[in-house]
Amino acid sequence: MKNDIHSIGLDVGTSRVRCVIGEAAEDGRMNIVGIGNCDSKGLRRGIVTGAEAAAEAIRKAVTEAERVSGLEVKSVTVNLSGEHFRGENKSGVVAVAGAGREIAHDDVDRALESASAVQLPAGWEVFDRLPQEFIIDGQDGITEPIGMSGSRLEALVHIVTGPSAGRQNLEKAVRRAGLSVETMVLEPVAAAESSLTDDDREYGCALVNIGSEITSLMIFGRGAVQHTAVFPFGGLHFTKDIAVGLRVSMQEAAKIKHRYGCVASFLMDDDERSQTMEIVPVGRSETRGLSKEILCDIMQPRAIELLQHIAREVAGTRAQIPSGVVLTGGGAIPRGMVEIAEQVFDSPSRTGFPERQYIGGLTDGIEGPDWTVACGLALSSMRSQLREMNNGDRSTSGRMAAWFENFREKFR
Ligand SMILES: Nc1ncnc2c1ncn2[C@@H]1O[C@H](COP(=O)(O)OP(=O)(O)OP(=O)(O)O)[C@@H](O)[C@H]1O
Ligand SMILES: [Mg+2]
Repeated sequence: MKNDIHSIGLDVGTSRVRCVIGEAAEDGRMNIVGIGNCDSKGLRRGIVTGAEAAAEAIRKAVTEAERVSGLEVKSVTVNLSGEHFRGENKSGVVAVAGAGREIAHDDVDRALESASAVQLPAGWEVFDRLPQEFIIDGQDGITEPIGMSGSRLEALVHIVTGPSAGRQNLEKAVRRAGLSVETMVLEPVAAAESSLTDDDREYGCALVNIGSEITSLMIFGRGAVQHTAVFPFGGLHFTKDIAVGLRVSMQEAAKIKHRYGCVASFLMDDDERSQTMEIVPVGRSETRGLSKEILCDIMQPRAIELLQHIAREVAGTRAQIPSGVVLTGGGAIPRGMVEIAEQVFDSPSRTGFPERQYIGGLTDGIEGPDWTVACGLALSSMRSQLREMNNGDRSTSGRMAAWFENFREKFR
């Protein structure tokens, strides 16, 4: 039965479009049965600016995944991104209405509604409402209030808002590619879905998804999202620095970065520092030798600057992150990123990748941090389909999870 469930994650990024087709496995994991990816077009800073060009790239990536899996894709779970996201924590209080003061779905609904009543700038909308916890008559930390007794119910919710146009244009591009949108999931929520463990979410961590032109930060703690921020920079800034610093084309700079990129000089020994790489300067056809140390001298200050910016944001929230910093996205790939993050954040840091405890099957080539979003989107779709399927004989926690999922989907 379970492997009748197929989920399709489509990560429409500024530099790459990635598609993952997953199948629910008996052991609770998701078996990857199809993957496809190609260069992206028609996006700037995570937002669709040319729907036809974006649709073409989407079609290409999806067709490749279809060919690998032998399945036909009709609807997809897609990432919602952009530099103008804003997250804020809100609370809403209601008096418990029912007989015997037993908290019912309706009370929780009203409390969440009241917490979500925010003033939005013109053209903005609520992208997601992520429940954090409930407080019943002063008792905090409650995650499953339904069925509990009390007279005053307070809901704490993390609300993410942003401009409607970004979501609408992404939806148009997906439709032009001949597909429908099953759900949209915020990019860092998707990255977290595949790369974080329950302990990371519970004890607290900062997920930093470094894309091409966008970096998003999501802080988790007490099992929920506590803070969201987006920054208008990413891996492309390193490529530009290399192009300017070494006088090479952007394509050549990207190639050099992917092949030799290192952002922490202390990881290189003397031998490596003096090793040369062959580069092709702009307007020339013959190559020139350049030491790897020079490349690192260009990349390291940018890595420090970028991560310091994010670390300042984290420090400003006073959040505790004992589980440390988790770097995802293609921008997390260059050697030394984790080591620099460790120093800048003064916290344990690691690269986040699609966790083997969540995925299996055709994982070759998608083990890196750049696939966390696509895998997370497919996982999120699979988990919500499984919840729906289990709707009959559910435990209280299953019911609550399904209910929250439905609640969130209502507003998408
Ligand atoms: N092997 C590699 N070494 C270094 N950098 C890499 C490597 N592979 C990819 N990158 C960089 O990762 C960045 C792209 O990351 P990713 O694919 O996560 O972005 P995206 O999702 O397309 O963009 P965004 O999230 O900003 O919309 C690019 O700057 C790319 O150069
Ligand atoms: Mg991305």
